[in-house]
This record gives sequence, structure tokens and C-alpha cells, in this order.
Amino acid sequence: MNAYINDFPLLLKKDEKGKRTIYLDNAATTQKPSCVIKAVSDYYEYTNANPHRGTYDLSMQATDVYESARKRVSKFIGAESEDQIIFTKNSTEALNIIAQSYGMTFLKEGDGVVVAISEHHSNLVPWQVVAQAKGAELSFLYTDKYGEISSEEIEKKITEKTKIVAVAQISNVTGKINPVREIIERAHKFGAVAVVDGTQGAPHIPVDVNELNADFYVFSGHKMLAPMGIGVLYGKKDLLESMPPFLYGGDMIEYVEEQNSTYAPVPQKFEGGTQNVGAAAGLSAAIDYLNNIGMSAVMEKEKELTEYMLEKLSSVPHLRIIGSDKPEGRIGVVPFIIDGAHPHDIATILNADNVAVRAGHHCAQPFHTHLGVSSTCRASIYIYNSVEDIDQMAESLSEVRRWLGYGSKRIVH
Ligand SMILES: Cc1ncc(COP(=O)(O)O)c(C=O)c1O
Repeated sequence: MNAYINDFPLLLKKDEKGKRTIYLDNAATTQKPSCVIKAVSDYYEYTNANPHRGTYDLSMQATDVYESARKRVSKFIGAESEDQIIFTKNSTEALNIIAQSYGMTFLKEGDGVVVAISEHHSNLVPWQVVAQAKGAELSFLYTDKYGEISSEEIEKKITEKTKIVAVAQISNVTGKINPVREIIERAHKFGAVAVVDGTQGAPHIPVDVNELNADFYVFSGHKMLAPMGIGVLYGKKDLLESMPPFLYGGDMIEYVEEQNSTYAPVPQKFEGGTQNVGAAAGLSAAIDYLNNIGMSAVMEKEKELTEYMLEKLSSVPHLRIIGSDKPEGRIGVVPFIIDGAHPHDIATILNADNVAVRAGHHCAQPFHTHLGVSSTCRASIYIYNSVEDIDQMAESLSEVRRWLGYGSKRIVH
């Protein structure tokens, strides 16, 4: 067993048969350690008030909780200043802010927007909407069958016409680490802005936005041990300052007159309305927890388990891993299919053994079409998973075809 699991009450919980949940849907959301749950609960028990607004102690304490979360995030991703960190609901909201505020303002007819075919819908649909509204052309970096984007593809698709390039640091379907540095360099060569969707990056590998030279970088707290309801939009200061607000109203203004208003500086300009301070408290605790382990150690630990998972999955008869079955250049997100079994049936059969995996298109329909499959099962690990979890999944997977009538059914005692 993995010692980290002891910090996660939900993963220790046993059902009436004495079995715990083997949770392998971490690309969707992660479980929360006790320290995160306690930080949220402490916030509501001792510190809750509306931040930035009151002159009384509680409001100032809530402001401290919220602003210290911003500082932690800023350090966690290597930003130069905490003013570059905007809190959002999630990655989806962060990407919509970039598309609606930056894209709608600066894109012109005939300009090019480039995304990867492997994008999550949250980094695709917002660009479709903006491109259509502005008469810009949306084009795609296509991958090979292993989910890899080649240098030739990057050179061919990112050209002087390109004004925005938006790509995931790591695919939520194949776990492939994309060549984002190369993509960013190419985008910058033509003066284009590079948007990096770090939703599957920040939880799993060390991130330094300066080294990456990303213009925007986004991620969701709930995929890295924090509560749902908090996400991050990092941006280069000059870009953020050049963009109009996205939400208008309380807390984001400087002066309001009857007919006109001026706006607060970045980051408040993009944080209209009351924010999720409880979730920010949880995000701080999650970052502290991950920093205690060290993000390089998180990456190394997951690498070992990914290798083991790929080996185990490859040994299951009739199972085919989609994308690459090699451990290099990826994280522990592995999509697969089993001959003659629908992914939803596979996930349902695994659920009977308390194994939680995802089935479907994982919010990446065009990528599934590109790879020639309509849906897949996806197993994804995090720091608390162990070889025992993978063994249990592999054992259950070996039974799937029997359950579906290919050979004799297993006997349930
Ligand atoms: C790569 C990627 N981008 C964006 C998202 C959207 O994240 P959220 O639903 O937290 O906004 C996800 C969620 O799975 C993702 O994996």
C-alpha cells in the first residue's frame, strides 16, 4: 500500500463488504487529503467573511486567506508577481476569459487561431465561438496515432497568419506531454500569443511559467487535491492589462458614475463578485501538501506507477491501449479498449469490483474521431495510488469479456 493513502479519508472508507474504492479517475478530479478538508472547514468555522470589503477583523482575515492563496499559487508556478494570478471557477472559466476578453478584442478577420486536435472541449469550443464571431480561421495541429505532435506539423500550421495558439501541456486523453516549449517558440516567432492549458500539467509535473514563456497558463484546483470551485488564470502582465474585464460588477471597479466606470487593476479587474475564499483556503493547503512531497518527487513516483500500469494493461488479453503504450513522455493517464466490449460496459463491470475508471470521449470528441474510436476507457493515477490498485484493475479487466458472454461467466461467491 501507498502511505499517502492514509491522508485521504474517502479512499480509506470501506463498504459493507469491507472493500475500499480503487479510485483511478484522477484526470477527472482527485480526492482530497484531510489537511485540505480541514482548511476549508476551519475557514468556515473561524474566518468566514466577505474579503476585500470590510474594515472589521473577520473580513481582513478572510482577505489574508484569499491573498495568501494567490501568493502560494504564484510561487507554485514560478510567476514573477502574484498580480499575475487571477482566481476563476476552474480551467474552463479561465480559458473562456482568455477567449472572450483577449480573443474578442484582438482577433481580426482572416487571423489564424491554432489549437491541437487533442484539446479538451474547454480549450476548443471557446476558440470556435471567437473564431466564428471574428471571422478568424481555426486550424489544428494533428497528432500521429500515438498522440504525438511533430515538429513538421508545428512548422506547417503556425505561420505569420497565426495570432493565437492554444494547446494543452498534457493531453487528458492520452497522457502525452506535448512539445509546448517548441509550440510557444514558434508562436512567438510570428508574434502570436501562446495559451497553455495546464489542467493536466500543474498537478503532475513541476511548472515554471517563466521558463515555459507561456503568455497564459491555466489550471483547476480540484485536479490537484484542492476543492472544486477554484481555478487559476496566469497571464503576462502587459497582456492582462491590455484586456477588458470579463465579468462586470462588484469588486472589480475603481470608480463608478451614472454612465461610466473605471476598473480596478489586475488581478481584481477579472474577479468580479464574491469569490470562493473557502476553496482558496483549500487550494493553499493542497499546494502545501504537494510542496511537502515536492513536485519532482510527485512526477517520479507517478512515472514508476505508470510504467507498472502500462505493463499490467498490456498483459490483459484483448485489451488495446490507445495512443502510446510506452512510459516515455507521458503521465499516468491511459486510454484503452477491449475487443467486443463497450467502454461503458467495461467501466460498469469494474465498478462492481469497486474500481472507478472513466468511460466516454473524455470531453475530447474530435480527438477520438481523429484516433478512429468513438469512446475509450481511461485509467488515471495520482500520488495515492499503488501497485495493488493497478493489480485489482487488471484482474477485473481480465474478467470483462467473460462477463459479456465470451466464454464461461465467473462464479460469484
Ligand atoms: C486538459 C483539460 N483541460 C480543461 C479541462 C476542464 O477542466 P474543468 O472542468 O476543471 O474546468 C480538463 C478537465 O478534465 C482537462 O483535462
